[in-house]
Amino acid sequence: MGNILKPIKNKDQQLSELAQQVAALDSSPLYKIRIENNYKPVFGEGNPDANIMFIGEAPGAQEAETGRPFVGRAGKHLDSLLRSIDLQRDDVYITNIIKDRPPDNRNPRVQEIEIYSPFLREQIAIIQPKIIATLGRFAMEFIFTLFQLPLNGKKIGEIHGTALHTFSELGETTIFPLYHPAAVFYNRKLEAALKTDFVILKKLAWSAGYL
Ligand code: URA
Repeated sequence: MGNILKPIKNKDQQLSELAQQVAALDSSPLYKIRIENNYKPVFGEGNPDANIMFIGEAPGAQEAETGRPFVGRAGKHLDSLLRSIDLQRDDVYITNIIKDRPPDNRNPRVQEIEIYSPFLREQIAIIQPKIIATLGRFAMEFIFTLFQLPLNGKKIGEIHGTALHTFSELGETTIFPLYHPAAVFYNRKLEAALKTDFVILKKLAWSAGYL
């Protein structure tokens, strides 16, 4: 009786099982903070068949209160950038590297990245996005490492808006680094670059038949 076929799970089922594992992740130092503050884990949301996946750093206060990524001020800006290229949140998938809110919005720690990154990797493996658009330096550096792409000391200011095509066990993926939508709040000069990069992203996706 060793050959019983297991039912094939669809992407929604696979993602919801993964989300349950994140919800139960009591080995994370951020889990205790989640429970103490009545926060929610922020797994990610959007179209599981999306060709474009946006990856940010970690949830902020509003995200932890609602359990949804990019719903605060940075999220409103992301929504407007999406609208500017005729896309809606439902057309794409949006998530973060870290799935629980770090206290006081501090940078995620190495140990936290190690704990949460297998879940992001699995999300990518399930969704199989054709384009991964990283939001900010943190997500860019993480994804470059995950896809074994050399950064050669380059900063986000030098490579934002540039597409990098990769072939890996995660499939054929184009990595597209973007400034974080919140970066504009600290440096207004980045707004034009971010808008232009979204137009480039749209053209890239459209010309490849991904939209
Ligand atoms: N910043 C992020 O990187 N992610 C969010 O979900 C919100 C703000």
